[in-house]
Amino acid sequence: MTTANTNTNTETATIAVGGKSLQYPIITGSENEKGIDISKLRADTGCVTLDPGYVNTGACTSAVTFIDGDLGILRYRGIPIDQLAEHSTFTEVSYLLIYGKLPTRAQLDDFNYQLCHHSMIHEDMKRFYDGYPSTAHPMGILSAMVCSMSSYYPEALDPSNRTHLNDTIVRLLAKLPTIAALSHKKSRGQPFVYPDNSLSYSANLLQMFFAVPADKYKLDEDVARVLDLLLILHADHEQNCSTSTVRLVGSSQANLFACIAAGICALWGPLHGGANQEVMTMLELINQDGGNVDKYVAMAKDKKSSFRLMGFGHRVYKNFDPRAKIIKKACDTVLNKLGIRDPLLDIAKKLEERALSDSYFVDHKLYPNVDFYSGIIYKAIGIPNNMFTVMFALGRLPGWIAHWKEMTESGAPKIGRPRQIYTGATLQDYVPIANRT
Ligand code: CMC
Repeated sequence: MTTANTNTNTETATIAVGGKSLQYPIITGSENEKGIDISKLRADTGCVTLDPGYVNTGACTSAVTFIDGDLGILRYRGIPIDQLAEHSTFTEVSYLLIYGKLPTRAQLDDFNYQLCHHSMIHEDMKRFYDGYPSTAHPMGILSAMVCSMSSYYPEALDPSNRTHLNDTIVRLLAKLPTIAALSHKKSRGQPFVYPDNSLSYSANLLQMFFAVPADKYKLDEDVARVLDLLLILHADHEQNCSTSTVRLVGSSQANLFACIAAGICALWGPLHGGANQEVMTMLELINQDGGNVDKYVAMAKDKKSSFRLMGFGHRVYKNFDPRAKIIKKACDTVLNKLGIRDPLLDIAKKLEERALSDSYFVDHKLYPNVDFYSGIIYKAIGIPNNMFTVMFALGRLPGWIAHWKEMTESGAPKIGRPRQIYTGATLQDYVPIANRT
């Protein structure tokens, strides 16, 4: 394990502006990633940088997760994702991300105990569900419920007060599955099912989703394991849109519940976590259209069409998304185990095969991402389409917390406040309404 050598690099970058030539330090991370530190650029030159979509902008240094998008590498705290997928559990990975190292047996037992014993939500919160229509999107409910948690734990509102931080972290991790399961039950018109402390995190999630009081719930351990695997694979992905949102909101010293609620909203979009729901909609559309994969590959390439292959492409990965490889394999395993033959899986595989042999996708380095196959597994285990992004949020929660914790523990973080290049009207006088044309 090598740690960051951010302050030992003596390399500099030269930027010439307005006849002045200025030197800026180059920061090197522990995996040799380089960034030009331009924090004094505006003071020195009067210029800001312009980088729509932050394609070239490093907003922070971070020790949580490493991605090499060209090599298809993903590591949490230095540990490769495939090792964690094979050997770890979601709660262990959560501990790793949030506290920075793998827990000892005693630490993990204690963490699991706490997660079990904080899993119920305040009874009054159950009444919130009465106010939502049964068709409400569960991402909207999830975000609102998480923000509402702030009203029940006023001692956790001051992010600089660390006394209650662990309680807040545990409460979020413990209660999110309960909140998600209640919205599923609400949409089905079924009675709410309380958490069962004797079950593992993922097994408990399944029983809260699928148990009904009239029947004894039969837990399938293989299904619980695959769900745990999906949560592990979604647990962090460095400075993605929702994590950056959590950091940005947190930089204003907003409380952790508010930051996570904002992260959930950012995740909802179809270009981010919402893509898993969109993938299923797309596969169903192709299936209903006779399975004509070529037609949709052609549409995705057509610049006159706004259609994109959902679940394809990534800002950072220009090679296979290592998570997608693991999920594809798990998909085959779980469908075989459950004896399900889903035509959507055949279409997904055909689509992947066609796209990966097409020069457009090859040249643009577009590969299946984490969202391409995950929905097929969720569907196989009975989770409805509109819940897919909620499952992503449950998985991403420890990553959001880890980044928020890292940021708030790194001294006094500066408020996130990008600049702009103004392109609007220059000075003009107010015109009384009677004189306007
Ligand atoms: N289908 C067809 N063309 C695509 C696709 C796609 N899925 N993704 C990118 N392209 C093309 C795009 O048209 C552009 O072409 P050109 O350079 O000829 O104009 C080029 O590839 C670069 O695309 P971009 O939109 O500039 O790339 P980006 O890094 O800004 O966007 C992305 C990344 C993930 C938003 C994008 O690939 C996309 O929209 N994918 C589909 C949605 C999706 O699956 N999102 C989940 C992302 S992974 C999980 C997560 O983050 O939540």
